[in-house]
Amino acid sequence: MIQVTKPFLPPKEEYLELVHQIWERNWLTNDGPVLRQLQEELKDYLGVANLWVVANGTLAIQIALKSLDIHGKVLTTPFSYVATTSSLVWEGIEPVFVDIDTNTFNIDPSKIEDKIDEETTAILATHCFGNPCEIDQIERIAKRHNLKVIYDAAHCFGTKYKGESVFNFGDISTVSFHATKLFHTVEGGAIISKNETISKRAFYHRNFGHDGPEKFRGVGINGKNSELHSAMGLVNLKHIDAVLDRREKMVSRYMNSLQKSGLKFQKITENAQPNFAYFPVLFENEKTTLQVKAALEECGIYPRRYFYPSLSNLNYTKGDTPVSDRISSQILCLPIYHDLSENEIDLVVSIILKTI
Ligand SMILES: Cc1ncc(COP(=O)(O)O)c(C=O)c1O
Repeated sequence: MIQVTKPFLPPKEEYLELVHQIWERNWLTNDGPVLRQLQEELKDYLGVANLWVVANGTLAIQIALKSLDIHGKVLTTPFSYVATTSSLVWEGIEPVFVDIDTNTFNIDPSKIEDKIDEETTAILATHCFGNPCEIDQIERIAKRHNLKVIYDAAHCFGTKYKGESVFNFGDISTVSFHATKLFHTVEGGAIISKNETISKRAFYHRNFGHDGPEKFRGVGINGKNSELHSAMGLVNLKHIDAVLDRREKMVSRYMNSLQKSGLKFQKITENAQPNFAYFPVLFENEKTTLQVKAALEECGIYPRRYFYPSLSNLNYTKGDTPVSDRISSQILCLPIYHDLSENEIDLVVSIILKTI
């Protein structure tokens, strides 16, 4: 069976070595030494100033919204994982959908200003599939209208924009370290902000508001992560360059073999260095997309309709986003994971070519 993705697992002994140490220490959570070491190593690797490891990428978004005191309406993308929209609704904020760009699949900056009204407080945009948004344009619009910017950078471990980590942009960036992400802590995520004051707020929010054992700063939540999860992160970080390198090679092989197929690929944003976290392919129409999906499934290969449905069509949302609706109906993310072999890629490609 070939799934769309498979978690990267490091050599077991490397993980167990850290587990032994955790056992000896009997310190399992609440900002333990492994979590703190992971935070330091991540800051160093990514080149970011302030980063807190949290329980998952969804709580990271929710804590980001609280830390920036976002309320009212937020302009957001309809083409993302459901957590981008549900986090807003969960926090009592109204998502206002701005349609996406046909080529990059990211929020279309030229359509943002039309949707701003007096209740709008922020923009929450996803760097879709690890491909950065039009950051400069978004920042200009945000400045002009005094809006905060949160980037849902769940897919973006290793992505760079203008030569630095994409996490350095916006008021806050959030990332997911879920097991299916190319860097993971089994479950996990992080909140990153260049701004010390905002980052401090997130620090308190993610731990019930605790400022010491008996003092609290504001309303918090339990967004902490554990020593066992952090140990997985520390070990995986040692292998991340090999993981990123392998991704790029797999994507090149897919692209080269599908070059003459007439299929459309995601356009990489200018000045961006993507991390090749996913390999999305756009088919001519929904019928062909579903035919290809069925043909692959018949051979035990399971691509995913990332992202379907468009988030403007959930049962608790509404929005007029024809581009997102169309892309959602025509897209498949093809299998990509560390030990996917070249033969397996060739098999996926041959079934696609035969079906279209
Ligand atoms: C774009 C996006 N945002 C948010 C999330 C939520 O992250 P998590 O699963 O770590 O809560 C995901 C998870 O896949 C995602 O793809």
